[in-house]
Amino acid sequence: MGKLLTVTLIGIILAFVGERIIRFRDRLRSSRELEPIELPNCHVLKGIEAGSEDIDILPNGLAFISAGLRYPGIQSFAPDKPGEILLLDLTDENPVPVQLKISHGFDVDSFNPHGISTYIDQKDDSVYLFVVNHPQMTSTVELFKFVEEENALVHLKTIRHDLLPSINDLIAVGPDSFYATNDHYFINHIMAQLEKFLGLAWTNVIYYSPKEVKEVAKGFYFANGINISPDNKYIYIADISDHNIHVMKKNSDWSLTPVKVLQLDTLVDNLFVEPTTGDIWSGCHPNGWKLFFHDSDNLPGSEVIRVQDILSENPIVTQVYVNNGSVLQASSVACVYGRKLLVGTVYHRALYCELDEL
Ligand SMILES: *[C@@H]1O[C@H](CO)[C@@H](O)[C@H](O)[C@H]1NC(C)=O
Repeated sequence: MGKLLTVTLIGIILAFVGERIIRFRDRLRSSRELEPIELPNCHVLKGIEAGSEDIDILPNGLAFISAGLRYPGIQSFAPDKPGEILLLDLTDENPVPVQLKISHGFDVDSFNPHGISTYIDQKDDSVYLFVVNHPQMTSTVELFKFVEEENALVHLKTIRHDLLPSINDLIAVGPDSFYATNDHYFINHIMAQLEKFLGLAWTNVIYYSPKEVKEVAKGFYFANGINISPDNKYIYIADISDHNIHVMKKNSDWSLTPVKVLQLDTLVDNLFVEPTTGDIWSGCHPNGWKLFFHDSDNLPGSEVIRVQDILSENPIVTQVYVNNGSVLQASSVACVYGRKLLVGTVYHRALYCELDEL
């Protein structure tokens, strides 16, 4: 009887682990094969070799790029080099990234920038840059003011909060307020890996302002990119492990109400919203297994998608660019300015393209 019970228990545990492995591989789209889609008029940007994880573009064509992310379990080509914010002027005929200076008093040696978001204060046209930072693998939000004449960022404050233990990305909604995604429930690296493996949908979205901080959405496997519609009515959230984009209505008390979920066949990372059309652009990971288990003989590829009319019954999803890693590995963001396309990556290069049409 005891033996039978033991055998049964082992069987149950093996079945459970087996089922989790299959689901885990499925969530990572580990077997997905890629059909390349090339674009003419593209080149990799000089000077970016160790990541360009997130990008945001001002209405005047200045693009901010967060470079040099070091993230647990993810490849880095410059593990000992501090991260930086680069600026690229997309109105230049041949744009070249320049590193922004950061004001004294900010610890640049531990700078590890991740998601970013710009905010223009209508009162005086001040430009603020919100940056998710991971100094010593913790999570903070750094608030900077951009001083264009000096190509500099003036550090205003560091925000830490118990509800923001593992921030991935954010969208600014005021000069000192934002929505942010937490990509893990556990902070401990091993527990965080286990959480991903078990498929716990325990990550969330937080609204932050100096007066109020609260959870506004939850139940994501791995909440990642977040952005806002041009009319400021809807918030878009990418769940990278669940291959989808959640659309939520923003209420006057900053709470969010679910509207719909757009299911996709790829791991959606950061979201960019084109301000005139409202189209959503994303850098995606076609095969998450290759991203999380880096193997230089079997590189993760890149995939750029555009979503039009997400609120309609039949949104149009277009694969704009697909590469097997020979040019670009691990695309995490795609932004457009007019007909210029900029694709960033978690730890690799950045691609600049001039599109014939959109
Ligand atoms: C990746 O794509 C390039 C160009 O399309 C091709 O030459 C190369 O053989 C491909 N590599 C692999 C590993 O499939």
